[in-house]
Amino acid sequence: MATEASGTASLGRQAQADLPNRPDEWKIEQGLLGASLPILDQSAPEPRYVKPMEYEPFKDQAAIDSVGDRAKLFTEEREGWEGYIEWENYPEKKEAAHKILTSQNFPPPPEFQMGPIPGQNPVLEGVRWKQWHSAIGGPLTTMPDRSWEDVLKEKHKDMLHLLQFPYNGEAPKRLVTAAEITPNPLHFVRNHGGIPHIDKDKYSLQLDGLVKEPKNFTLAELQDESKFPRMEKLVTIQCSGTRRIEQINLYAGEGDEMINAPWAEGAIGTAKWVGVSLKKVIKACGGLVGGGKHLEFYGADTYFKKNQCMNYLVSVPWSKVKANEVMLAWEMNGEPLPKIHGYPLRVVVMGYIGARSVKWLYRIKALDMPSMAPVQSQEYLYFNQQTGKHNQLMTSGIQIQEMPVSSAIMSPWTKQIVIHNGSIHCKGWAYSGGGRWPERVEVSADGGFSWYAVDQGALSPKKKFAWRTWEIDLPCDVEGWIEIVCRCWDNSLNTQPLNVRAAWNWGLHVTSSAHRISIYSVNKSRDLTAKRLQDFEVRGVPFAPLTVPTEWAIQSFDDYNKYFKEHGPRDAENEYDPKDLGED
Ligand code: MTE
Repeated sequence: MATEASGTASLGRQAQADLPNRPDEWKIEQGLLGASLPILDQSAPEPRYVKPMEYEPFKDQAAIDSVGDRAKLFTEEREGWEGYIEWENYPEKKEAAHKILTSQNFPPPPEFQMGPIPGQNPVLEGVRWKQWHSAIGGPLTTMPDRSWEDVLKEKHKDMLHLLQFPYNGEAPKRLVTAAEITPNPLHFVRNHGGIPHIDKDKYSLQLDGLVKEPKNFTLAELQDESKFPRMEKLVTIQCSGTRRIEQINLYAGEGDEMINAPWAEGAIGTAKWVGVSLKKVIKACGGLVGGGKHLEFYGADTYFKKNQCMNYLVSVPWSKVKANEVMLAWEMNGEPLPKIHGYPLRVVVMGYIGARSVKWLYRIKALDMPSMAPVQSQEYLYFNQQTGKHNQLMTSGIQIQEMPVSSAIMSPWTKQIVIHNGSIHCKGWAYSGGGRWPERVEVSADGGFSWYAVDQGALSPKKKFAWRTWEIDLPCDVEGWIEIVCRCWDNSLNTQPLNVRAAWNWGLHVTSSAHRISIYSVNKSRDLTAKRLQDFEVRGVPFAPLTVPTEWAIQSFDDYNKYFKEHGPRDAENEYDPKDLGED
């Protein structure tokens, strides 16, 4: 017997069969609109369906107003620091923001993982984030528009904007590995909030916590070479979301407050950074005291999580700083940092996940344990495959710090028809974190059974903290759909899992598996193929789309008959005559 509950329906077999069809029923049934599927709950004696959550807007204006004047509550407190609101020093301000955010609700994040990803640029808009900003008001109201203006000013016109606000964007494939050093306008951007505008002459960095002498440093002081030796280094920054789209294409994962941008292979960039070693700055504060072991970095942007407002905070261990592998940088490829990349000062943590390289850095606090701030303790965790929405604990994920070895094919592209003469020219990048570097890149044209090593001369030079770009003429005799795969071995002989599933995880982080693309191989060094292609050319008919049937015959019936005359009939002859068996 069917019973109805709010948002749920308990259904017997007959009632189940009687469920009305929707116009998009076929898509739902085939898993192409997974988000619309009701949950099938078989845990009770009678199975029941539970409908997915539906958004019903609500707003308690009186409760919001009771918080007070938002323009006065959430102000920019430092002159020359536009868009910077200090949250960490003011629990009462955080409380007020929490009340505003919980006295209304906001549209849920778009369900792009279970349904089609919108075919537009920006791919996702970030409606919920924009609404959070205007709900808090004050200087945050205009942040989405101002930050978008910065994107248009500072980034290349061909950037792929995966999320308009907070801005997440990567360069198109053809430009990612066009040069060993990524030009600033093409460097990927991963923001969790709006872009603060900080006047360098009004800038200072606070260093406190478990250091002997807490101090403030102006930018000029940090740049004074008589105090701090200058550091220049080629460093690759890789986001842990790089190549996430491959995980999404397999299974949907965490949505969370931060929309997990459907990153492709471009969320990685290599720049020449100039700055000072953080170790020297800590030394200038008399070193760590009282069990100080971790350095917490504060970014001036505002981040929203679980109805809370906060600054962007993460930490790295002192051991990393001590090795001179953490830089406070003010220059990127010979220019002052672009605003979008952290002007006037950012952290560059070599060989670690990009999330630790904090932009718009305003404070460093020495702690005795890793930061408890949400970005460090709740995000960028690497879970086991059994862990998901239903059982995820902060303690069950590995905190992602050093990046593992990875690589990607940037050309050709998946689903591409490649016409070649027996070898396919492939290009890509390879990277390993933690101070390890790519030693060998291998490419396979048969799905990962046999591998060709990229010539050392076709790899860009080795650097301890940077990627290597590569090219290869990959021998390929076969035709039709083939799978090209690349993998990298680093100098510690680490290599990549062979398929996405092997390393799929709920947070959709670190897609470290060998990169696979399917291409349609057309080998012109084969006579028949060469003739056929010429035929297409003479007739002026494009070979693509692949699935369009060709409108002329490739073979005449004369040739057909001639062939079977020469090679015997199409069907095998009986070896006996039916008449011999007394049959007519
Ligand atoms: N710093 C601040 N203050 N706010 C941020 O949102 N994003 C981090 C990191 N630093 C972030 C930040 C993440 S997740 C990455 S991958 C890198 O910045 C990206 O650096 P980029 O945008 O300069 O490429």
